[in-house]
Amino acid sequence: MRLRRSLLYMPGSDWRKIEKAARELEADCVCMDLEDGVALDRKAEARETVARALQTLDFGRSERLVRLNALDTPLYTADLETVAPLRPDGIVLPKVNSAESLRTLDAQLSEVERAAGIAAGSTSLLAIIETAAGVVHLREIVQASPRLVALIFGAEDFATSLGAVRTSHNTEVLYARSKVATYAAAFGLQAIDIVYTNFRDAKGLEREARQGLEMGFAGKQLIHPAQIAVVHQVYAPSAEEVKWAQRVVQAFEAQQAAGAGAFALDGRMIDMPLVQQARRVLERAQAAD
Ligand code: COA
Ligand code: MG
Repeated sequence: MRLRRSLLYMPGSDWRKIEKAARELEADCVCMDLEDGVALDRKAEARETVARALQTLDFGRSERLVRLNALDTPLYTADLETVAPLRPDGIVLPKVNSAESLRTLDAQLSEVERAAGIAAGSTSLLAIIETAAGVVHLREIVQASPRLVALIFGAEDFATSLGAVRTSHNTEVLYARSKVATYAAAFGLQAIDIVYTNFRDAKGLEREARQGLEMGFAGKQLIHPAQIAVVHQVYAPSAEEVKWAQRVVQAFEAQQAAGAGAFALDGRMIDMPLVQQARRVLERAQAAD
């Protein structure tokens, strides 16, 4: 699976930020936004700017994503028709409430790929779950399209949809946030965590990113370049964690050869789930190199 620790948004109308993300920043995913980051009177301009970026900029190792306006808006069709033929790596669809919207987009992408001579199925989909209906329909949504690679959880819109009060402790979104991570894992998808809007607060970002990692998220949505390094650091295991993981795996192999399933290491019981966790840590360390 592709590394998606950092998904950086920028308004599709802001050429300077897009160019900066393509040339200088090393976000795993660069998401040019046509939706809520763009003022209503600049929607058409944003579409053209994103089209120019897809045609002319080299994004290096970053995945090139575009967030469209939601499927039930009058902007959606022009967004899709402008952007999809230009071979973005993936389309981010916001406010996914049902499997139906992903099925519709999947079929439209197949049509565009056919017409543009793009390999069938090569455009990925990332679905933003950010409404109460989206959370309720997760079971159908995750099975709606083979293009789907990730679920993104949007806390701000979700809180609005729920009539909840948004807080810094995130308790009001815990159920939905955790449900998104769980459904993603159950269906072999990645889950991408909430935006930390206070972009000057690196400590707070680090705390929230760690919480997301601990909850099973593969990465986090970002809005500012300064957030990239913080999140990559959180996703890279510390030297101590790596050492612990190596010892667990080595001890496991020795114990297994001696016929023991569970065994003790430093006063802690180690058995299969812990060995698997240790292997995950080693995978993350490798990915961070
Ligand atoms: N992507 C790429 N570059 C960005 C960026 C982003 N999201 N946010 C800021 N930058 C660049 C700025 O252009 C500036 O570069 P420069 O000095 O070469 O011009 C540099 O990083 C420092 O930016 P700074 O002055 O600290 O921030 P700002 O006041 O220009 O912008 C925001 C603050 C919040 C408006 C901006 O970060 C932003 O637009 N974020 C994304 C918003 C968005 O897309 N929202 C929708 C999805 S939730
Ligand atoms: Mg949103």
